[in-house]
Order: sequence, then structure tokens, then C-alpha cells
Amino acid sequence: MNALPYVPDLETIDPSLDLHAEIARLRVKRKAVVLAHYYQEPEIQDLADFVGDSLQLSQAAAKTDAEVIVFCGVHFMAETAKILSPSKTVVIPDLDAGCSLADRCPAEAFAEWLKQYPGHEVVSYINCSAGVKALSTVICTSSNAVRVVESLPAEKPIVFAPDRHLGKWVMAQTGRNMVLWPGFCIVHEQFTAKRVAVLRAQYPDAKLIVHPECDATVSRMADFVGSTAAMLKFVAERPERQFIVGTEAGILHQMQKARPDAELIPIPADSGCNCSLCPYMKLNSIEKLYLCLRDLKPEITLDESTRLQALKPLERMLSLG
Ligand code: 13P
Ligand code: SF4
Repeated sequence: MNALPYVPDLETIDPSLDLHAEIARLRVKRKAVVLAHYYQEPEIQDLADFVGDSLQLSQAAAKTDAEVIVFCGVHFMAETAKILSPSKTVVIPDLDAGCSLADRCPAEAFAEWLKQYPGHEVVSYINCSAGVKALSTVICTSSNAVRVVESLPAEKPIVFAPDRHLGKWVMAQTGRNMVLWPGFCIVHEQFTAKRVAVLRAQYPDAKLIVHPECDATVSRMADFVGSTAAMLKFVAERPERQFIVGTEAGILHQMQKARPDAELIPIPADSGCNCSLCPYMKLNSIEKLYLCLRDLKPEITLDESTRLQALKPLERMLSLG
């Protein structure tokens, strides 16, 4: 019988504890590094050793000499860290922190679908499971997708998965045709051209910056399209004082720190809570981060043959710089 999955039990936390002090103490005791994505709660970003986008975080995970990696992000990010650093203990505050792109591209279905495209190079966005990575020629992130596709021989046909919006954007940038897996991000797909048009009329001097996971109708309107790190750099370096931001609202924390003088206008989602927050990223909390360091659970584990298969396309991406 399979063991029950570990579920963080907040009731085991002594309410008199200063969690920040405990996290600082345990971090040293465990020889741990805390990595956080830009979509994490500001409180988590502020205590992390390193905050970054998917590419920067995978580079940090590949070169750390810490014994434990506490990955404050979503499952595919922590799993990538484990693929790159198998001898380290990799933990994530909440094992249920998934990703709609990864969840809607199961490896078995992907393998079956790929049979229609023999001879194609398979470029997979890092937002996918280790099983999908293992079926890929090369991995990319939103910050290097164009470079990765351009690194493939011009005559080779390409399959791109699992984000159709990022895929379309890369096609527009490179002029290469690609077969796209029909996946999407539930957060970015909620930004609509209609909403953006209203904001543009309301803030005519603002620069519109969006993530390439947005629909083409939105990214075509933008002044700048880029990864979370690239959007942050854009805001930090530009002279303008207003920015309409089309990505998960967690990024606003670092943007505001970089530009305290700027007005940041998040594009509201067009349904539900209108909050532009990723429900998976927001499962992590400071309490669960503390439990993670205290108990070294929940731990990311991987079957070794899948890990080795997934490592090859990841290393190919990292070798591109
Ligand atoms: P970045 O690689 O740009 O940080 O994006 C990760 C992600 O999940 C976007 O939704
Ligand atoms: Fe996945 Fe979208 Fe959340 Fe990014 S914002 S982790 S792509 S669901």
C-alpha cells in the first residue's frame, strides 16, 4: 500500500514561536538555501536567499552548494532543482502547488500525441513535468525560448509544448512554424484585450508590459513582452512612471522596490476574483516554509531513469547560457 502523502499540519506549530527567527536558525542548521519565485508572497520573497524567474532559479539550483534546497515556487520548479541536483534534499512548502500548464500535459498523453510528429525536435517550456521533459529535445523558459528555438537547425520541424501562447509568440519572433500542444496558463489567459484597451485609455502615458504566456491579442498590444525577470528589468530601467503589468501580481513587490516612484497597474483577470494571482503559487506560506525546514518534508523524489532522461534537455538549455 502507498504511504499517505505528507500534508503540512499547521497545528503542530508552537504559536509563541517567532517564525522568522526560527526559519533563520533552521536554515543554518540544515545548511539550506531558500529559493523563491517572483510570484511568491512578499513575506517569502523578502526572506529568501535568492528570488528569480524560472531560468535564474534553475541556474541557482544547479550551482548551489547547500545541502537542502527549499523551493518556494511550484512543483515543476522544485522538480527541476531535483533533476539538476539529485544528491540534495529538495523540499517545497506545499506539494499541491502545481501549475495548469504542467497539469494539463500528462507525459503519457504527450508521448501518444508526439507519435503524429516523427522527426520533429521537441521544445518544452520548463512548466512541465519531469516525464514531459524526458520526452524533449531541449527545454526553454520564457526568457530564453526564442534563443533556444533559434539554436535548432532551420530545416528541422519543431513541436512546442505545453503553452500555445508562448509558442505562438516564439513563432512570431523567430518566423519558425511550430506544432503547438494546446495548453495555457489559467492566470495569464484571463487577461483580455478588452480589459487592456480600457486601461490604456485610462493611463495613456503608461507602458504596457506583459508575459508571453498571455494571449496574442494582448501581447500584440504590448510595448514589451518578456519573462518576469525581463519585465522587472524593464520597469527598473525605463524613465516612464506608469506601467500596466500583465502577469501574476506577485511581481509587483520587486517592481515597487526597484521603482518606489512608479505607479504599477496590474491587469485584472477577466473573471472570478479579478485578482491576477496564481492559486498554486499562493499555496505556499511562511508557516509551511517553517514546517518544511523543521521536518524536511514534503520532499521531491524522482525515479532515476526519468531524471536522467529529463536532465539531458535541461543541460542542453543551460549550456546555451
Ligand atoms: P518566468 O519564467 O517568467 O518567471 O515565468 C514562470 C511562470 O510560471 C509564469 O507564469
Ligand atoms: Fe503555472 Fe500560470 Fe501559475 Fe505560472 S502563473 S505557475 S504558468 S498556473
